Amino acid sequence: MTATNRQKARLGFVLMLVMAAGCAALTAAPPGDTPADRGKVVFEQRCLPCHGAQVKGDGYPFLKPPPADLTAFAARNRTDAELLVTIRHGHPDTAMGSWRFALTERETGDVLAYVRTLQK
Ligand code: HEC
Repeated sequence: MTATNRQKARLGFVLMLVMAAGCAALTAAPPGDTPADRGKVVFEQRCLPCHGAQVKGDGYPFLKPPPADLTAFAARNRTDAELLVTIRHGHPDTAMGSWRFALTERETGDVLAYVRTLQK
């Protein structure tokens, strides 16, 4: 059985659709699984109530001392190691608690990666 022109045209059309779908899949945004993407989820669940969506200490500003503005010069210029110590162990006598039992090492690194993206 030979294919009619109409069948060939239909096959061509289907192939074109498959290729178009393939291109769309390739150009679609990559799945959000970078450390910063994962850290955003951790931040929104754990840190946002105090540090706020802007990360400027705008979540619950009535604490004494208030939540740190993580975009401020001081936080921007601290090393990863310094900020990780604060996240893991907290700051004594402030509302910044210790997260070392609540977050895994990976979550702690991820949340810092997210904070760094907001400091730029
Ligand atoms: C209950 C409120 C609260 C929550 C929740 C909270 N923080 Fe804080 N955070 C604070 C306060 C208050 C300070 C300021 C401490 C100070 O002034 O010494 C602070 C300070 C910090 C600092 C130090 C900034 C600097 O300049 O050294 C970092 C980093 C930080 N927080 C990250 C986080 C991360 C990440 C989370 C979530 C895992 C989090 N915080 C959750 C209240 C909070």
